[in-house]
Amino acid sequence: MIASAPVNVPTLTAPIDEPVAGNYFVAAYPPFSAWDSAQVPALHEALAQPAPAAPLGLYVHLPFCQKKCDYCYYLSYIAQPAAVVDRYLDAVVREMELYAAQPGVKGRPVSFAYFGGGTPSTLSSAQVRRLGDGLRRALAWDNVKEVTFECAPRSVRHEFLESLREVGVTRVSMGVQSFDNELLKLNGRVHLAEDVSRAYSMIREVDFGWVNLDLMCGLLGETEEKWRESIRRIIELEPDSVTIYQTEIPHNTQLYRDLTSGALPALPLSWDIKRARLDQGFRELERAGYTVVSAYNAVKDPQRHRFLYQDYLWRGADMLGLGVAAFGYFGGVHFQNQATIKHYEAAVEQGKLPVTRAFKLSIHDQLVREFILQLKLGEVPIAPFQERFGLNIVVQFYATLRMFANEGWITVSDEAVRLTRRGLLRVDRLLPRFYDSRFQDVRYT
Ligand SMILES: C[S@@+](CC[C@H](N)C(=O)[O-])C[C@H]1O[C@@H](n2cnc3c(N)ncnc32)[C@H](O)[C@@H]1O
Ligand code: SF4
Repeated sequence: MIASAPVNVPTLTAPIDEPVAGNYFVAAYPPFSAWDSAQVPALHEALAQPAPAAPLGLYVHLPFCQKKCDYCYYLSYIAQPAAVVDRYLDAVVREMELYAAQPGVKGRPVSFAYFGGGTPSTLSSAQVRRLGDGLRRALAWDNVKEVTFECAPRSVRHEFLESLREVGVTRVSMGVQSFDNELLKLNGRVHLAEDVSRAYSMIREVDFGWVNLDLMCGLLGETEEKWRESIRRIIELEPDSVTIYQTEIPHNTQLYRDLTSGALPALPLSWDIKRARLDQGFRELERAGYTVVSAYNAVKDPQRHRFLYQDYLWRGADMLGLGVAAFGYFGGVHFQNQATIKHYEAAVEQGKLPVTRAFKLSIHDQLVREFILQLKLGEVPIAPFQERFGLNIVVQFYATLRMFANEGWITVSDEAVRLTRRGLLRVDRLLPRFYDSRFQDVRYT
């Protein structure tokens, strides 16, 4: 129950719209639609300041895939020749060099890095080495604590994994999505369940310290039986962590186009069913010894496997977003790169940072950002916010917290705001209610 309640706050109820289509996952605050080109100079100003003490991370977007999956909303280019990829990697290294020359970045060690996609494992070993070497030449990596590299099952090769070790990858994350071949095909996935077993054995032969596997619940055509089987198979593999995403149907996907044209071979599952499946998956993982550490992740050993990318970024660390459409956060400014390779490369080749839109957060915006992102972890301690911002988050968000407490989604004690399991399963649906009134009901992208 909520402690230390301010008086005169009306009791609200919480009708939450649940559209079948559109984005669910909240990746940033304020929403992307509030970012604009007029605020790009704020990033340049932040970069021109002397280096702050905050940890520095990198997100590197590698936008290449073998084939587009029907549900996927990430920017990716399909089956590109090696020369196109080489040229892109050169631009990424050049972009890193441009940042490394800025006073706010110069000489700072990289604390964490994330190579995401697209499918980064479609690169060749030589391309991985070239990228890794180029980035390390620009900025010191010696003290890097975590380097994640995303893979898809079909593109995992032994020699390639060795090259990942050489460039310092500590965490491999592979997209499995399902172990049911019929479901994989129905959702436009290029791999089959047997590719997962083959790739996973190869990954385990190399010592990465942390192997994460992604699953999606609520894929088109999923039945309870198929979902249970996927959970059973993933537990059998004993990965260090499992990430489960509830399937979204964003407007820029094939799934959405098929939905609107009436061409879908099955009805999309309701959010109630997706939440029930996620809950069931989490329970099975807990029975197998895993601990649920966020709305998406269960880990085998929470002490050993703390996801630093999240830990740092969600507590205000700086992160340079490199590559086409990548987004980053620096000195309280959110920013995003050009959305096509053509425009991205053109900017970098002219020696310009390829940033196209930005948003400078006020101190209050930063408080909201860190609060909502940390809520995804299921628990937000009150004291660090009091220390950092001089404000009590319970007082700040009182009306919304009370509304969600009434629904049984949240509890509040003197120490922390905690989501119940029911709250955790729908957390991204709840977060917009904490947004500043300027950003309520705005478009997400
Ligand atoms: C960039 S992909 C991971 C690497 C690789 N491209 C792959 O798909 O195996 C990141 C993850 O996002 C998740 N994802 C993609 N589209 C999604 C959607 N519409 N709804 C929920 N999760 C989605 C998938 O689980 C996927 O593994
Ligand atoms: S889910 Fe992964 S493999 Fe499929 S299109 Fe998206 S990025 Fe590429």
